[in-house]
This record gives sequence, C-alpha cells and structure tokens, in this order.
Amino acid sequence: MIFLTRRATFSASHYYWNEAWSAAQNEQVFGKCANRNGHGHNYTLEVTVAGEPDPVTGFVVDLKWLKDVMEREVLAAYDHRHLNLEVEEFKAGKLVPTSENIAIAAWKRLEPKVNAAGGAQLNRIRVYETPEIFAEYRGEA
Ligand code: NI
Repeated sequence: MIFLTRRATFSASHYYWNEAWSAAQNEQVFGKCANRNGHGHNYTLEVTVAGEPDPVTGFVVDLKWLKDVMEREVLAAYDHRHLNLEVEEFKAGKLVPTSENIAIAAWKRLEPKVNAAGGAQLNRIRVYETPEIFAEYRGEA
C-alpha cells in the first residue's frame, strides 16, 4: 500500500455562529470569529489516496484526474465563496464552517468519486486554515 497526496488551495470567507445561541453566547464562545460580516482564509486542501501502483503506469491514480475531481467536487463549490452564505453544507446555519467541518464535508464530496473510480481509496483529508493549523479526517472507520 502506498499513499499519494495532492494539494490545492482555495480562498473562502466564513464566520462562526450557532443559531441556537444568543448573540452574547456566540460572541463569548467564538470571539472575533463571530463577526457576521465574516473574514477570509487562504485554505490548503490536502487529499491523500491509498492503493497499489499500477504495474504498467506506476500510478496509484492519475494525478491530473485527481486534480480534476478536487476542482469539480470541492473547489468549484468553495473557492471564492462565503461558506456560511453560499455553500450547501454550511448555509442557513446548518453547520459551523470550522476547518474540522470543512474537512469532513470535503471527504463526503470526494469519497464517492474517488472510491468509485476503482483502484485507490480515499485515505485522508487535511484542511489547513493557516500554515500552523490543520484539521485531518480519515472517515468514520
Ligand atoms: Ni476564520
């Protein structure tokens, strides 16, 4: 088994807010991140697939194919968007768009496409909100 990782970047705005709480409680828990005008991050998305190299090509997956899947399934929905206002998983207060939740949401978008292609399996997602902070998700198992 070998692991192959591709990175992509996207820019998006967000704020943290729990609709079930008062404004005061949101501000107490989320601090500056509760400013409902939002603020931006340059995120890095890291997608790792696991499998065996093809005996002919030496590829676990074709990296151009993986790039296209990441662009179509995640970046097209998230890049230059306000996550709270425009992105299905997070809008209308459904889910707080933390790096943790973005990593899980990206997994849900990518896993069916990657795993259906045969060969490699989605292994890990990392979402870096800054170079110092990332969330990692490896599925439920
Ligand atoms: Ni933030």
